[in-house]
Amino acid sequence: MRVLSGIQPSGSLHLGNYLGMMKPMLSYMDRAELFVFIVNFHALTSVAEPDKLARGTLEAAADFLALGLDPNRCVFWVQSDVPEVTELAWILTCITPMGLLERCHSYKDKIAKGISPNHGLFAYPVLMAADILLYQSNLVPVGKDQKQHIEVTRDIALKFNYTYGDTFVIPEGEISDDIATIPGVDGQKMSKSYGNTIEIFLDEKELRKKVMSITTDSTPVDQPKNPETCNLFQIYRHFAPRSRVEEVHRLYIEGGAAYGTLKKELVGILWDYFKDSREKRAELLADETYIRKVLAMGAEKARNIGEKTLELVRQRVGTRY
Ligand code: TYM
Repeated sequence: MRVLSGIQPSGSLHLGNYLGMMKPMLSYMDRAELFVFIVNFHALTSVAEPDKLARGTLEAAADFLALGLDPNRCVFWVQSDVPEVTELAWILTCITPMGLLERCHSYKDKIAKGISPNHGLFAYPVLMAADILLYQSNLVPVGKDQKQHIEVTRDIALKFNYTYGDTFVIPEGEISDDIATIPGVDGQKMSKSYGNTIEIFLDEKELRKKVMSITTDSTPVDQPKNPETCNLFQIYRHFAPRSRVEEVHRLYIEGGAAYGTLKKELVGILWDYFKDSREKRAELLADETYIRKVLAMGAEKARNIGEKTLELVRQRVGTRY
């Protein structure tokens, strides 16, 4: 089974990215053929600063490696290092109905937030479909915000197969209920574009500041509280040891959960949880040679596979003459 997912290098990676995508992907390392990539073409839809994009790409790669991704047990590359994906994206664009893209929530949400849309933002799901289909992926683990994009990918693949004959594997999305939407410090979905993120690799002072700023209600300590709707608990429960999570859950239900104390505890828990990765990341970024070598090796592996699909597609659609 081939499992594939990508992440944008459009800002520092945060706990939503970690729980929604990076951790599930790492759990597949020994169970599947794993394809992980940094989607810098997608990030171009929102980042117009070349240095920021280039630096973000290297740092996202360092983050993944530091968190335990073993480049010898997966294919790990940067999207733009396999430019074949853009050829496939164009071909897919030509069979994608406008209405399919006009219905996409993430495009509509961005417009509603006042972001002036470029064509890349509109066509974003088609490039994502090309990413998934070029590598004939079976399973795509993502957070809930990407659910519709996977559905669009399936629609495009089905239409292509129907029009030109069987070509693409029809992929399935995988969204675990447990981590579908991790809230940010303000309770909305944690997102780089909402400015409510807790980044994975902050220094201790910044980490404390962010965690202490998580919004909570004003229920007195001794009163019962709802853990399901509490942002703090919804982050806490993924990192604290299981027995402690059960104990704190009970305190919420029965009364006795003190938000301030729990926040301080969470700072310590997060600091320790990412300690080894933080050290590894600093080492990796001190000498980028290794990261660059790994990414070059990954691009070559990805390209060999992608080229085969693309050649078949060219024959199917008639651009090979
Ligand atoms: P990106 O970089 O916006 O997000 C990367 C992954 O993190 C998940 N995620 C979350 N999960 C739970 N709670 C949150 N608050 C949260 N915030 C982010 C996202 O759902 C995503 O899985 N379009 C993709 C990138 C992409 C891609 C692909 C993914 C491009 N091509 C092909 C899979 C297959 C994206 O949203 O990236």
